[in-house]
Amino acid sequence: MEDFILSNGVRMPKIGYGTYLVEDDAGVSVVKAALDAGYRHIDTAAFYGNEEQVGQALAASGLPRGELFVTTKVWRDALGYDRTMRSFEASMQRLGLEQLDLLLLHWPTREPGDPESPALCLESWRACIELYHAGRVRAIGVSNFLPHHLLPLLETEVSPMVNQIEFHPGYTQQATVDFCQAHNIQMAAWSPLGRARMLADPLLTELAGRYGKTPAQICIRFALECGICPLPKSSSPERMRQNLEVFDFALSPADFWRIASLPPVGWSGLHPDRPRAAL
Ligand code: A2P
Repeated sequence: MEDFILSNGVRMPKIGYGTYLVEDDAGVSVVKAALDAGYRHIDTAAFYGNEEQVGQALAASGLPRGELFVTTKVWRDALGYDRTMRSFEASMQRLGLEQLDLLLLHWPTREPGDPESPALCLESWRACIELYHAGRVRAIGVSNFLPHHLLPLLETEVSPMVNQIEFHPGYTQQATVDFCQAHNIQMAAWSPLGRARMLADPLLTELAGRYGKTPAQICIRFALECGICPLPKSSSPERMRQNLEVFDFALSPADFWRIASLPPVGWSGLHPDRPRAAL
């Protein structure tokens, strides 16, 4: 597996395994299957409620800690310095880890429109910086932050190293990607398959046939060619493996731009500044 190199020199495997909705009971075996399939970058979050299962799977794998890259996130209800610190410690307990590879603030707002969120977010970011300086985490970043949420953080002594957003063909959030890439913030993509909605898209199906790949592999390759780290989810060992087999082909420039120019297909409906009901 190749790596992206973050702004502080830390290496992050180019594809991660997304664990959102990995079921409680089956969690350990599903994450174990992902590790068996070859994933070394595992993305979880306090909100997912599966950090304990992820931790157990990591321990059971017997893989050396140095080969693993583990991300977790501070949920939006834990914005603020003290809450962020407590959230981090609780996550580490559940994961059973001494040091985390990447800590992200999950959302920039407690609720869309909350006037206190910008100040709380900055407090949370100061907690992240402290944990980083103390060596508890190897890298820090954010998730679902748009450029205007990032600007205040860029004024602090440590800029976010990663921003993880929803990204897939038909929803590429170009303004945020361009802004982050200009500021040397590594992008990561949640739902790189558009929660499977993109897999029946006529262009992606056509390209899949032409490249001898699946539409999912086309989506994952597209994210990589945008310089973005895809975090696909799958519960099936066969599809987990398939989603890693994307380093043996490249999209032609014309096909890359065809995908990049797809008409907007929309998103999952989650946005830091918009209530769900307003969609
Ligand atoms: P499954 O768990 O049955 O594999 P995203 O990561 O964009 O949120 O998409 C996750 C969805 O895509 C899940 O429903 C998952 O179903 C499905 N999926 C993941 N990988 C593949 C694949 N290679 N082919 C088809 N569906 C896939």
